[in-house]
Amino acid sequence: MNRKNIYIGAMVTSLLAALFMGTSTMVFAHGGAKGIVKERMEMMKSLADSMKLLKGMMQNKATYDANKVRAAAKVIKSHASEKLTKLFPKGSGHKPSEALPAIWTDWDKFKELADQLSTYADTLEAAAGNASGPGQGGMMKGGGMMKGNPMMQGNPMMQGGGMMGGAMKNPGALKSMPPMASFMKISQTCSSCHTDFRLKKKEK
Ligand code: HEC
Repeated sequence: MNRKNIYIGAMVTSLLAALFMGTSTMVFAHGGAKGIVKERMEMMKSLADSMKLLKGMMQNKATYDANKVRAAAKVIKSHASEKLTKLFPKGSGHKPSEALPAIWTDWDKFKELADQLSTYADTLEAAAGNASGPGQGGMMKGGGMMKGNPMMQGNPMMQGGGMMGGAMKNPGALKSMPPMASFMKISQTCSSCHTDFRLKKKEK
């Protein structure tokens, strides 16, 4: 081997090393998730960020800003409906994904929840400028009563959302309610879908 070949050899080796390092960081990012699984995890993270921002304002921990609420609603909407469902192609439920097989056996319900996310993001955007008013506390109490009421629990009407179903029939009404009402609907939609379609596990 002459000097030139040694030099090229070293270059190839370091290039390969760089390539390998690049790939391994990609593979190990996010607990080994890659491709579409990684994509949807990142999408969900973005939903979680928007919800965190909204929650702060809804709970008066941050100054309420209608424009920020509208912007967050738009982000949520941009990840809802078919934007969400298209990230769950058949056969993509393998590890490290936390997606449950039920997504593909009960696709209609999964799709419906993804659509509801879009509906309530819309009503939130429309309601962002409404007064938070006395209705806000009322909604909170209503929600609490629902949860604590044994009549409501285990009622098949409630699962899949009797209440949500009701609001779905006329979600437009939410547009004239305090923004909190739509926020709560979005939050319920996240939880419903996670309850039915995501592996239960410790909070991240
Ligand atoms: C239509 C169903 C559905 C809706 C609606 C939904 N999610 Fe998810 N979410 C899932 C599924 C399924 C997973 C698991 C994805 C995976 O691991 O492949 C998930 C995972 C997540 C994760 C974990 C991501 C990670 O890094 O592993 C977060 C955070 C999250 N969702 C937040 C939200 C928030 C916030 C909302 C509401 C604004 C929401 N999701 C709405 C189905 C849904």
